[in-house]
Amino acid sequence: MTVLAKHSAAINAVTKSRDAVDLGTKWAVTGILFAMFARPNEIRYFCSVTTVENQPKIVLGVTGGIACYKAVELVRLLVKASLRVRVIMTKSALEFVTPLTFQTLSGNPVATETFDLTQESQIGHINLADSADLFVIAPATANVIGKIASGIADDLLTTVLMATRAPVLVAPAMNIHMYENPILQENLRKLRRIGYHILEPAEGYLACGYEGQGRLPDPEKIAEEIKRLLRKKDLCGEKFLITAGPNREPLDPVRYISNRSSGKMGYALARAALRRGAEVVLVSGPTALDPPGGARLISVLTAAEMRAAVLKEYAQCTAVIMAAAVSDYRVATISDRKMKRGKDTVEVRLEPNPDILKELGQNKNGKWLVGFAAETEELTANAQKKLREKNLDMVVANNVAETGSGFDSDNNAATIIDRTGKTRSLPLMSKDELADQIYDHFLALKSPR
Ligand code: PMT
Repeated sequence: MTVLAKHSAAINAVTKSRDAVDLGTKWAVTGILFAMFARPNEIRYFCSVTTVENQPKIVLGVTGGIACYKAVELVRLLVKASLRVRVIMTKSALEFVTPLTFQTLSGNPVATETFDLTQESQIGHINLADSADLFVIAPATANVIGKIASGIADDLLTTVLMATRAPVLVAPAMNIHMYENPILQENLRKLRRIGYHILEPAEGYLACGYEGQGRLPDPEKIAEEIKRLLRKKDLCGEKFLITAGPNREPLDPVRYISNRSSGKMGYALARAALRRGAEVVLVSGPTALDPPGGARLISVLTAAEMRAAVLKEYAQCTAVIMAAAVSDYRVATISDRKMKRGKDTVEVRLEPNPDILKELGQNKNGKWLVGFAAETEELTANAQKKLREKNLDMVVANNVAETGSGFDSDNNAATIIDRTGKTRSLPLMSKDELADQIYDHFLALKSPR
């Protein structure tokens, strides 16, 4: 790598004069210069890790918004992280930034026109669609989101997107009222349903003068998300049975007892497992979330229904992750009519529900069991107790008393404890990131080095 850095200036000097830098040529020049200067051990490292061919390829669509300037920095960060970037700009994006800026930073010609013969012969829109390991649109305006949700392909970006089979990450950026518009929200839901990844905009001061949600996240955050989505499929062969959300225990035909679980943690686990190549059965209590594309969803209400679904699926899975907030109690006698309002105090008798995870732990049969522990005190000690008593391989302990973490939040701060005693305390992070950390720990536990 040192040698690479030392000679990158020389490589650029040789290739800079070309209008459209041909990567094949650049690589050949790199190889010759490298062979001239590298030591044998460096050649080995270089060959196994840094070939241009095995560098992941990003197609970045830039649409017209003031946040375009952040896309410039994003390209710089991606290239620095050894990713190959091809940029497509819409007509409106050209009003904010010149293609030359992106071309200089990416080292590749920028595509802007569908019917430009020179561009088509140099790049080729189908070639561009096929080449992507990940397709990113950042910033994504309300207009482009509306077009892709409606299947409109009327410019180069939307046409290439229509033709790609790569995973897609969309990073919306716009005025807060546009972002909150139900039409836009419905379009985003539609994209999520078909498996697009949406990076939520950040909150703060907006260029239009308003404050609120709508800012394109910082380029570092987008780059991190891109790297996360490019992870290799290291969970191939796993069949995860994941539970999510709350239960509803009925009192009468119109009332029930429940809890504040939104299902976000379980759904994030399902998304991450699918992305990393696993099969997923998602047993979910009632939530307002769209099921991740690719998961087999089994919807349940009560803890008894959740138990029945989990036990039915258990034999076919390789691992279970119980992120659901299972109701510990149910109403002993459910009224078959709506309970009448009266002046007297009403007493409701509750009886315990079975502990689903404990039952699985008593019949492990080679399955891997991961539990969650929602704690408000003595986090580690209580989680360790659950790990032992339920015969788990791992437990993810979250302090649900902490603000901005746990129930109904987009983030979670957790401590992972495994059966070997290894403990990892993680800072507050998005539930998507935490899901990846849980799978990393799971894989390390399964195949210790
Ligand atoms: O859904 P979100 O809004 O994203 O919130 C996420 C979460 C806080 C619900 C999640 O991170 C979490 O902590 N889930 C587990 C909540 C819980 O029920 O914890 P517990 O400590 O009571 O249970 C321990 C484990 O046993 C859990 O894996 C639970 O699913 C399981 N359990 C509990 C009771 C029961 N009767 N049967 C079970 O299988």
